[in-house]
This record gives sequence, C-alpha cells and structure tokens, in this order.
Amino acid sequence: DAAAGNATGTIQWNGNGSTYPQGTEGEGQEHMLEGQGAAKDDALHLKRRLGLFSGVALIVGTMIGSGIFVSPTGVLERTGSVGVSFAIWISCGVLSLLGALAYAELGTMNTSSGAEYAYFMDAFGPLPAFLFSWVSTLVLKPSQMAIISLSFGRYVVEPFVGDCEPSGVAMKLVAVLIILVILVINCYSVNLATGVQNVFTAAKMVAIMIVICGGMYQLQKGNTHHLQTPFEPISQERASASLADIATAFYTGLWAYDGWNNLNYVTEEIKNPSRNLPLSIIIAIPMVTICYVLINVSYLTVMSPDALLESEAVAVTFGNLTLGVMAWLIPLSVAISTFGSANGTLFAAGRLCFAASREGHLMNILSYVHIRRLTPAPGLIFHSLIAIIMVVSGSIDSLIDFFSFTAWIFYGGAMLALIVMRKTRRDAPRPYKVPIFVPFLVMFVSIYLVIAPMIDQPKLEYLYALLFIISGLLFYLPFVHLGYSSKIMERVTVFLQLLMEVAPTQSVFP
Ligand code: ARG
Repeated sequence: DAAAGNATGTIQWNGNGSTYPQGTEGEGQEHMLEGQGAAKDDALHLKRRLGLFSGVALIVGTMIGSGIFVSPTGVLERTGSVGVSFAIWISCGVLSLLGALAYAELGTMNTSSGAEYAYFMDAFGPLPAFLFSWVSTLVLKPSQMAIISLSFGRYVVEPFVGDCEPSGVAMKLVAVLIILVILVINCYSVNLATGVQNVFTAAKMVAIMIVICGGMYQLQKGNTHHLQTPFEPISQERASASLADIATAFYTGLWAYDGWNNLNYVTEEIKNPSRNLPLSIIIAIPMVTICYVLINVSYLTVMSPDALLESEAVAVTFGNLTLGVMAWLIPLSVAISTFGSANGTLFAAGRLCFAASREGHLMNILSYVHIRRLTPAPGLIFHSLIAIIMVVSGSIDSLIDFFSFTAWIFYGGAMLALIVMRKTRRDAPRPYKVPIFVPFLVMFVSIYLVIAPMIDQPKLEYLYALLFIISGLLFYLPFVHLGYSSKIMERVTVFLQLLMEVAPTQSVFP
C-alpha cells in the first residue's frame, strides 16, 4: 500500500494508500498512522492505565532481573568480607530508594514520560537532554540488554557442563540467540511482548520465593556458621578493600537494583501520579531490598564465602545443594527471570528511542513503526544490533562497570536538575517534595561512584563511555541544532522504510 514519497521526504502512511511528504502539514508530528482501526483512537494520547499495583509491579519487575543471581559473587569478591558485602547490598537499596524519592519529586512536578530526558529538558535545555538520549540509545539500553542476556546464557549453559567451567563461546551464542528471539517477539506484536512480560514477572517472583524459603529452612535447621563472623576477611590478599573496590562493588550491587526509576519513564500513563508515583516507589524499593538481603542470607546458609566466589552461577549452586531432585527449578526460573527482564528492557528501549527521535533528537527512522504490526521495529533492531556487538565483545563484569559508570553520571545529573529547579522554578507545583538533603546526598554519592574508580583503577571501559558522551556533541550541532539532513540520508531512510515497511506516526503503541 505504501508508495514511495516524493523527493523531499520520507514515506508517510495513512492506511488508505495515499501518501504525502513530510512537511505538508507543517510539523512532521501532525502525521498519523491509521493502519489499523483499533489503533486509530489511541493514536493521539496514551491512556492512564497504571494504578498503584501495576506501578509497584512495574518497578519490582524491572529491578529483579539477572543481578541477584549473578552479582553476589562480584560484590563479595570486591569487598572481601561477608559483612561488608551485606553493608553494600543494604546501602545500594537505601541509595536506590533515596534516588527514587528524588525522582518522585521530579516526576510529579513534570508529568511527561521520558524521565531524565524530560527533566534535563526542563532544567538544563535541549543539549543535555540530547546527550542523555544519545547515550541511553547507544550505550545504556543496549548494555543492559547485553548484560541480562549474558546472564541468561550463563544460567542456560551452566547445568549442562557439570563441574566444568562453562564455555564463554557457548554463553555468548546463547545470549545472541535470546536477543534475536526477544527482538522477534517485540517486532511481532506489542500484546505478545506485554503478555510475555506479565507471565515472566509472575514466574520470577516464584523463583525469588523458592530461594528465600529454601534459605529460611536452612536457617531454621541451624545453618548459620558462614554468617557468624561476617567481618573476617575471606582471604589474605583481599584483606582490605580500597575506595575504588568499594565503588565497583557498588556498581555490581547497584546493577541488581537498577530499574528503580522505571516508573518515571511512563508517568503519562499513571493514574493519579502525584499519589501513585511516590507510593509505588516507597512500597516497591524496600520490598526488593528485603528480598535481596534475604537471598544473600540464603546463599550463605549453604555455601561458604569461598564456595560463593568459586560459583559461576550462585543460584544454581544453591539449588544443587538444597533442592535435590528439584534443583533444575533454579536454572529454569533464572532463565525465565532474565528472559522477562531482557524483554522488558528492549520494550522500554524502543519507547525511549521513539520519544527522543520524535523530538528530532535521533535519526528519524528510529521513531517509525511497522505499518501493520504497529511495533517500533527500527528502534528495536538498532538496539539489538548494538547489544549483540556488546555481547560478542564484552564480559558480564566489564559491561556492568561500563553501564553503571555511565548510568550514574546521568542519575547524578537528575539530582542536580532537581536542585537547580528548586531555584529556577521556585513556584512550580510540587505535589511531592523530598527533603533537600536527599538529592544532595545522592549527587555526592554519584560523584564518588563515577570518580573513584576512574582515578584509582582506570579502565578502558570508562574512557569509552566518556568518549561516547562527548562524541554526542559532534552530532548535536550539525544534525540537531542546525537540522542538517542530506539527500543521501533521505534516500537511505526511504530505502529502509520500504525494506522494513515502517512509517512515521504519533504515539500509537501503548
Ligand atoms: N536490575 C536488573 C537486573 O538485575 C536490570 C535492570 C535493567 N534496567 C532497566 N531499566 N531495564 O537484571
């Protein structure tokens, strides 16, 4: 149906076979996609569908993913003692809660979706907002995807290798495969993707409960010896952790908590956001913190710290030691949990990319949707490609450092945005107001988290991340600020449109 647009623009789609070049109705934003009758009514606005329960579920479902099944080893390795590890796990929870409370003020003050993107726009203007969308599209979202799929790979391969070290190549192969499967699901249908999300979130809660109950049972049997001398160093060379070790231990722990700001990406869809946004945060994050601490206790009821360090997949080891013939339940549930989390991450990535390119901040093609399936296919494919490159070239730990370093630059930036707006927008309505020490504290912690490892243990990952952020500036001036676009780029866009059957649209997918 869609025919090629004329030389001035891209192909538009209105479902009746007629086409018109971008610009004929003034702004490109005016064009609507009418491929499917049902979607037409929803095309202009997103519905407020998320209540308190869904809000909590969205936060919990995003936060619990791969981290709690892989990070305990990393945190222990970097801190060198059980006691300090627990302190890190609890502090990460408190830090996430404080950060999220500050986001609650930001999100109830500016109720548009897009989180950091919207707040940076308000507080600092388009350039920082652009840099955020640039980095999150090119780095943050794909690296999240890569880490989660690698963890999936680890848990799928682990049960098949017995006591041997799982092969890196096999893990990576599985990781690439699951990215492709999730990509197909998300390109195929929005309903399928959200359905997968719901089923997998429920399954993940079951997995968490199995581990916690298993641990409780062990505790009650008196298996507490690994918890009795928490501050004894595990080994001689790890006797004391440096400041940078602590910061990178935080990275590992904070990965498991990442997603605490997820509700802020969809503020436009929350019912009564000034009540439900802060409340969801206050319920969800302490809940996750308690689960994580209890799971760590569970692991240590059956494993010595040394065994925990040795284990390639802690939860599997835990299952083997406690569940007997039912041990297969664990890798299965972790695979389910990580699959769901990767699915949700790609889903959100598609939406973020869509929002930013709609503002003209990224290549137009990334905001287009499939004319029949109404899925943001180009953005999804783009993210998956980058994620696959990261899977092939990185390891879970290096990717987590790379991710956390970059993410905390922006979380810190959001705290600064709050503080700045307390001055510049003194009178803006703030249905929820956080005590001012909170954003200051989180900002100082984020500065420490970003600077300490860079100075103490400089790694290439940090340099890459900084280069990425800075390289965004090179694109901003010609392509966004001056709005440069060349004939070649237009041709490529039209070619890709025909290839993928995609067209520009308003926000039609939920
Ligand atoms: N905390 C999650 C995990 O442990 C990762 C969340 C990724 N972040 C996101 N916003 N999807 O796997």
